[in-house]
Amino acid sequence: MGELVLRNVVKTYGEGPQIIQGIDLHIPDGQFTVFVGPSGCGKSTMLRMIAGLEEVSGGDILIDGIRVNDLQPVDRGVSMVFQSYALYPHMTVAQNMGFSLKLSGKSKREVSEVVGRAAEILQITHLLDRKPKALSGGQRQRVAIGRAIVRKPRVFLFDEPLSNLDAALRVQMRIELAKLHRELGTTMIYVTHDQVEAMTLGEQIVVFNKGKIEQTGAPLDLYDRPANRFVGGFIGSPQMNMLAATVVAHNGVQTVLALAGVSHRIALTGRPDRALNGELTLGVRAEHLSVGPVDEGIAARVELVEHLGDVSILHARLDGMAHAIALKLDKKDAQYEPGERIGIKVPSSSVTLFDAKGEAVVFEHRAVGENVRAVV
Ligand SMILES: Nc1ncnc2c1ncn2[C@@H]1O[C@H](COP(=O)(O)OP(=O)(O)O)[C@@H](O)[C@H]1O
Ligand SMILES: [Mg+2]
Repeated sequence: MGELVLRNVVKTYGEGPQIIQGIDLHIPDGQFTVFVGPSGCGKSTMLRMIAGLEEVSGGDILIDGIRVNDLQPVDRGVSMVFQSYALYPHMTVAQNMGFSLKLSGKSKREVSEVVGRAAEILQITHLLDRKPKALSGGQRQRVAIGRAIVRKPRVFLFDEPLSNLDAALRVQMRIELAKLHRELGTTMIYVTHDQVEAMTLGEQIVVFNKGKIEQTGAPLDLYDRPANRFVGGFIGSPQMNMLAATVVAHNGVQTVLALAGVSHRIALTGRPDRALNGELTLGVRAEHLSVGPVDEGIAARVELVEHLGDVSILHARLDGMAHAIALKLDKKDAQYEPGERIGIKVPSSSVTLFDAKGEAVVFEHRAVGENVRAVV
């Protein structure tokens, strides 16, 4: 078992501000949960409080229904893997992995059995007699993970464990971690600032920002239905395009938006769940934009085309708008030179409208007519 509940968890250092500002979260037993957010938003602090390495200033942490706030780290049934592998240099891999078991009084045979099994899972059996200095970065990180596995924790905690590895190895280790999770079925909480890593690993992703949770959900929920501008901008690459917009007409069934700086109108169908006043933001993913002749769509000038092989990213500047906009195109549709004039088509579906506070607006679709163009 390894169910984790956080109830209004708060962290302050001395008289300082709240680093963690009241976190409520439920992590079901066996789930792979990723905490993601920009550097300094409090991910490590939250993880360290769960591990018992950092005191909790307020609220409760429960593991399998038991409040662990005041329990020592060793009594919580959690194992933590850090970015720095923190292996003992004078011990072999087997000794490093078995050290905590030996300390807890397990017999030599028992230790070697458990270490042997963990080594098999991690495919490092052939390295058991080596010292850490004779291992690559990826192998060292495997040993660090092995050391966590042998303790048979109820919850694994990973704090950016792959950040020291090169890009190719990181991808490989991600796949292996996902596999490890399937094999062990143990609850895992994984901290990263890398949204791609979060999207590939997480069953549940928790987006942190400034000590608060912005949104919790499955990877594609966050991608397709960001709750606010922060999540929209943070999840996905290239970033969601954010266009300033205001409402120029609405009738309860359709809302017509004017984009700042351009004469183009966009009509969204459905009934918005709130009044739409002030400066709004229209969020559009790069893959939902398309390009055509300059007189068909919003006039723009090509700034740069990145040919990535499978797709191309076209960066353009809309006439009358200060910031650039990114389009993800098939390479055959991206044969443009910098300086060329194009027309960008913004779809009226697959967009997200954020209100003046940056919260996503939900449109209810009840018996809505399809004829959007007639209103524009
Ligand atoms: N021991 C400490 N004393 C005071 N402030 C701290 C301490 N540890 C971390 N912080 C602050 O807490 C905030 C969150 O840090 P951290 O949890 O490490 O962020 P993350 O892991 O998301 O990058 C940062 O602003 C950091 O400066
Ligand atoms: Mg950190």
